[in-house]
Amino acid sequence: MNKLLIRGGVRLAGEVSISGAKNAALPIMCAALLSTAPLRLANVPHLRDVTTLLSLLGGMGVAVSLDAKLGLELDAGKLHTPVAPYELVRTMRASILVLGPLLARCGEARVSLPGGCAIGQRPVDLHIKGLQAMGADIHVEHGYIIARAKRLKGARIFTDLVTVTGTENLMMAACLAEGTSVIENAAREPEVVDLANCLKAMGAKIEGAGSDTITIEGVSALSGAAHRIMPDRIETGTFLVAAAATGGSVRLRNTSSGILEAVLDKLREAGARITVESDSIALEMDGTPQSVSLRTAPYPAFPTDMQAQFMALDCIARGTAVLTETIFENRFMHALELQRLGANIEISGNTAVVKGAAKLDGASVMATDLRASASLVIAGLVATGETVVERIYHLDRGYECIEEKLSQLGARIKRIG
Ligand code: EPZ
Repeated sequence: MNKLLIRGGVRLAGEVSISGAKNAALPIMCAALLSTAPLRLANVPHLRDVTTLLSLLGGMGVAVSLDAKLGLELDAGKLHTPVAPYELVRTMRASILVLGPLLARCGEARVSLPGGCAIGQRPVDLHIKGLQAMGADIHVEHGYIIARAKRLKGARIFTDLVTVTGTENLMMAACLAEGTSVIENAAREPEVVDLANCLKAMGAKIEGAGSDTITIEGVSALSGAAHRIMPDRIETGTFLVAAAATGGSVRLRNTSSGILEAVLDKLREAGARITVESDSIALEMDGTPQSVSLRTAPYPAFPTDMQAQFMALDCIARGTAVLTETIFENRFMHALELQRLGANIEISGNTAVVKGAAKLDGASVMATDLRASASLVIAGLVATGETVVERIYHLDRGYECIEEKLSQLGARIKRIG
């Protein structure tokens, strides 16, 4: 079943629970490779990307088990094959996150180059450069990264760009390096902090996670640990935007406001009333939202992973919005599909000008990437008539049971075809 049928026009109302963060779970699962003792994880989201990574880790010899409460245990004690094959890596670029841990744990790694994806070329040169600075011998052969290092050495690394998984790969590798490493211009995303917290629970010595300078003092080995994955701030933001776009009133449980302040600010600018408690966020929107302009940038600025969702909101808002995408070179493909629903969007380079329309009309549209899919679902929720979103396997990579959760909020949505 690869399509979603949505009958728009319903104001979302009610409560849903937010799942664990995909972009924290993926690096943290890779951190299991660093230890011979089991890593036990709670609140791991049930997503296609997670099951893909479990297959990848299983192929390396990591023992995977689920407990009664769906807690995940990863035991890399008998790790035997430090290889990430193309067949799996091409379906999930975040597989690159095994490179640093394998190199640090086994002294060698053979990882398929991830290749590009719909939103951009997505190179991994900064991952490789950082590991080379730690003394790794790395070359690319037949589409694979071949890396070797007797033992990585601590180094001072300045990443030319702020890279989230680059920072995570280098931080994991540095945990077992000889001596101290300093990563400068590091990514400050909350998922980097969550990974650092898990690594510290395993015995790593890390200071500065969440700032642009992270210092890691290498240790000889890491132990097992238990860690609970942080809430997914992008799922949280997606549901809040859907509620705002439909003029609804929702409460999201098991999440936190401190990890998406830039998104909450934009929603308030659109006219939403937001109340936060320790582990929940409520949003109420009366009538039509006001257009909001935005410019994506590394955390704590507005996240690129929320740009597509806000474009859908701006399509039916009052006024004109200017959205500037500074992180990825091709992250406006949802605009072409939104235009099929009647949206008024002009793209020029990395800028989109969105003139709010009185309404959108349902149509068949095609998902091209994960967050573009979410944008089309939001548009379908507000469009009159029926919208069919095709190729929703993109959506399943990053949203757990999205149609069940939206149905819980009153949406008329079901999986078909
Ligand atoms: C992470 O991707 C996220 N994925 C992405 O979320 C997110 O959009 C992105 O960070 C930016 O926040 C995961 O965490 C699994 P980057 P990542 O390295 O690490 C360039 C989603 O929807 N770059 O921070 O791959 C790169 O091309 C996904 O959940 C290099 O040039 O992104 C981009 O322009 C999509 N060389 C910029 O840096 C490198 O070696 C930032 O990319 C690495 C990156």
